Amino acid sequence: MTDTADQKAQERQYGFDTLALHAGQEVDSATTARAVPIYQSTSYVFRDTEHAANLFSLAEEGNIYTRIMNPTTDVFEKRVAALEGGVGALATASGQAAETLAILNIAGAGDEIVSSAGLYGGTYNLFHYTLPKIGITVRFVEGNDPEAFRAAINDKTKAIYSETVGNPQLNTLDIEG
Ligand SMILES: Cc1ncc(COP(=O)(O)O)c(C=O)c1O
Repeated sequence: MTDTADQKAQERQYGFDTLALHAGQEVDSATTARAVPIYQSTSYVFRDTEHAANLFSLAEEGNIYTRIMNPTTDVFEKRVAALEGGVGALATASGQAAETLAILNIAGAGDEIVSSAGLYGGTYNLFHYTLPKIGITVRFVEGNDPEAFRAAINDKTKAIYSETVGNPQLNTLDIEG
């Protein structure tokens, strides 16, 4: 996983369509399969106990356990990162899981999030009912006026949240503002 396909693709400045099809995949030299294989393994074979110890202590890069990394998911994550121009990506099994992980990574009890009020219902429930249970307050802002977002920010604010195209109102945030 050192010289990754998406790094090569970015060096060659492939276009969006090519990246969408190929970024992140290193073609398996044994099979030369074109499609990304679906690796159904939960676990991986360690060469010996030293190899296992190095993987678990993160001294060596490699697959440890599918809940935390999987070669199929890895291609997806690298592809999304290449398309978004990001340094990395983490795939989750649902949007709600992605939002929860992203927020818990930067906020804890006593912290606040400022969010657009025009949200997908599941996200509204997560923000309005669930996050307060663990001490995270979400301040909802009606409309898309950047000044209204500014007014809701204080020294406890860790993030501003909005859907780029709101569901179901199709509202768009003034991201630059
Ligand atoms: C804006 C937005 N976020 C999240 C989701 C879905 O989240 P999940 O994958 O947790 O069902 C949807 C589904 O329609 C959505 O429109």
